[in-house]
Amino acid sequence: MAGAAAAGAKRALLCILARVRVTKPSTLELVSILFHSLNLIIIIMLYLIGLGLGDAKDITVKGLEVIKQCSRVYLEAYTSILTVGKEALEEFYGKELILADRETVEQEADTILKGAHQCDVAFLVVGDPFGATTHSDLVLRAVKLGVPYRVIHNASILNAVGCCGLQLYNFGEVVSVVFWTDTWKPESFYDKIAKNRRNGMHTLCLLDIKVKEQSLENLMK
Ligand SMILES: C[S@@+](CC[C@H](N)C(=O)[O-])C[C@H]1O[C@@H](n2cnc3c(N)ncnc32)[C@H](O)[C@@H]1O
Repeated sequence: MAGAAAAGAKRALLCILARVRVTKPSTLELVSILFHSLNLIIIIMLYLIGLGLGDAKDITVKGLEVIKQCSRVYLEAYTSILTVGKEALEEFYGKELILADRETVEQEADTILKGAHQCDVAFLVVGDPFGATTHSDLVLRAVKLGVPYRVIHNASILNAVGCCGLQLYNFGEVVSVVFWTDTWKPESFYDKIAKNRRNGMHTLCLLDIKVKEQSLENLMK
């Protein structure tokens, strides 16, 4: 009897949820939604989705399906350069993308997460969400706010470097080589390359890219 009542309640809740999302939520999501419904807040999900390293078609099938169901889709656009423009991605995904620069992600992360309280929100990252630059800060904030999250991985520069023929097992610490300015000329990457070499390890050197972060203050972050 109690089982039938629980099943009925679950069905009723699913009917309500069908208005706000297409896919069936997991039990974990249902519990989360029930809990937050008491505060008239519906927590759905934050998705961190890797886009791979090529063009729009490098996204995984799973990643594309999730993007299509999300109400808001952010495109992280400061740690990597896309080989295609935002418009090409929008056309292929069939979704409008919100560009998220460093400022948005680091200083307005709560704005991204607030959206996740009413709908599914996707955060797209070129490569893998945790490749080289991690987005663990966003994940930690989500956990703190009780917003469930999922990661959909993809190829990263960290494994694609294997295309040069060197054995991935034999890479040492990855280094970033930043742009020098007249007053700021960091050389610490050299010591790390030298250390890797002494240990018989290869070094993946990530050359800095300039997107919007032209100021010295931003480059040093
Ligand atoms: C933080 S890492 C890449 C992180 C990315 N999420 C991944 O998993 O590959 C960023 C660095 O990768 C390199 N990179 C990224 N996209 C690139 C591109 N299209 N061409 C050349 N280098 C690129 C640059 O050195 C850049 O500074």
